[in-house]
Amino acid sequence: MKSIPDFLKWKADGKAITMVTCYDAATAKIVNATSVDSILIGDSCAMVVHGFDSTVHATVEMIAAHTAAVRRGAPDKVIIADLPFLSNRKGIDHAMDAVDQLMKAGANAVKLERRKGNIQLVEHIVDSGVPVMGHLGLTPQSVNEFGGFKMQGKSEAAARALIEDAQMLEQAGCFSIVLECIPGDVAAQVTNAISIPTIGIGCGPDVSGQVLVINDLLGMDASFQPRFARKYETLSERIGLAVDRYCADVRSATFPAAGEYSSRLAKLES
Ligand code: KIV
Ligand code: NA
Repeated sequence: MKSIPDFLKWKADGKAITMVTCYDAATAKIVNATSVDSILIGDSCAMVVHGFDSTVHATVEMIAAHTAAVRRGAPDKVIIADLPFLSNRKGIDHAMDAVDQLMKAGANAVKLERRKGNIQLVEHIVDSGVPVMGHLGLTPQSVNEFGGFKMQGKSEAAARALIEDAQMLEQAGCFSIVLECIPGDVAAQVTNAISIPTIGIGCGPDVSGQVLVINDLLGMDASFQPRFARKYETLSERIGLAVDRYCADVRSATFPAAGEYSSRLAKLES
């Protein structure tokens, strides 16, 4: 079984690391049987599962419940759970309580956004035996600061700051860092400046691995098509068609059919 220390080895060996998000046990059971290296219970859950307009609305209880569901469905995968909005910014006791809930729910590691003001906390979590993944660039919890979901790290100064942040997170003990929506050349520079792996989303190929939100990968939302999220399926169409076929069969009385139910009469005759 793969584990958190493998992440370092995978980067050293030049093996591309794969990660998908997952939120429920049924999907996790499917993902558990795939070759994917790791599962992220992202706070994107607040948006793609709960329908909120940003990840600001995620709570520790929400992420812990989804982490527990995913762990029940995917007993064999490395699971990383997101520390939701402000859960790591209300003092160390509150933060460690959140870490505790996510780990007891079945995570192998936690992920937190941004560097500034988080270094001591990262060290404390890591020193407590809990692996930490960093997250830099377009950190969605900061959507209100950014004024939207906008690419980050475009200026020379911002690119330099990203490299410095990544180095500080590595020093603090992070085992890996997600880079979200920064220019590909900047992601490459960050990746080359540290020995821990970078997991990219919207950052091009020059990172140590890739992560996609599973709803995007599966094409669950026909109206959402960001440039960086390749659709490997169009489940929105397929699910809609399946539900309509079911409705048509009910209306034409072709569902349920013989063999799809039992009756005492049928038993007596057979
Ligand atoms: O919440 C999430 O899905 C994430 C990934 C996009 C990295 O943080
Ligand atoms: Na997230």
